[in-house]
Amino acid sequence: MDIFAHRGASGNFPENTIAAFKEAARLPVFGVEFDVHMTADGELVVIHDESINRTSDGTGYVKDLSLGELMKHDFGSWFSSDFQGETIPTLVDVLDVFDSTEHKLNIELKSDIFPYEGMVGRVLDVIAERQLESRVIISSFDHSAIQAVKRLNPQIETAALFMEVLVHPLDYIHRIPADALHILFPAAIRPPMAEVINSGMPVRTFTVNDEKYAMLVKQAGVQAIFTDYPEKMNAFLHSR
Ligand code: G3P
Ligand code: MG
Repeated sequence: MDIFAHRGASGNFPENTIAAFKEAARLPVFGVEFDVHMTADGELVVIHDESINRTSDGTGYVKDLSLGELMKHDFGSWFSSDFQGETIPTLVDVLDVFDSTEHKLNIELKSDIFPYEGMVGRVLDVIAERQLESRVIISSFDHSAIQAVKRLNPQIETAALFMEVLVHPLDYIHRIPADALHILFPAAIRPPMAEVINSGMPVRTFTVNDEKYAMLVKQAGVQAIFTDYPEKMNAFLHSR
């Protein structure tokens, strides 16, 4: 079973910061996951929430702030004073960290709350410039965004994100269409998921930080977990 470092190595480092990504890049895990939003001036930045309130010393929505304004804030101190001075990374900054590694790059488009007009095209431009088509998986709770990705570049692997227990998931996934299904942990081991797993479509699950749950999803045939503790999970899964 593969491991993705969720928001970087976010258990021990401030999520979605260069510190968390450098740690993930150092680890022999399959991939890394991170979340993308768009600023008021159309820049792509990596942060989980729509606002900067929880993970910085500032306030406000990403969509209302320019990159310059966002860069004035500290995104490390909320986690620990050891990380004071971490700034919000752009998508390009994060890709730079993984430039010379082999990690799969799961870019989650956070356009499910605010639509971020034009974000899909901008993300695809960055991927094309860096020739990362075969290294990325683009996922979203905004299934119209991944539908747009497939229309614009069918080569790129896409994944639909879900939190719910699903009924007939394959029908829906094929309708979007998407290549894979990423789903919250408990729903990943409910019976309807077997239909997807048996079809050969990748099912990956978030966020698995407990070894017991990792064993459960592995037994269910889940292809990968997203975890905040990639080093610990890697040691556990490889010790078996
Ligand atoms: O992409 C998997 C997972 O990150 C989705 O949920 O809220 O952690 O972005 P969230
Ligand atoms: Mg995410």
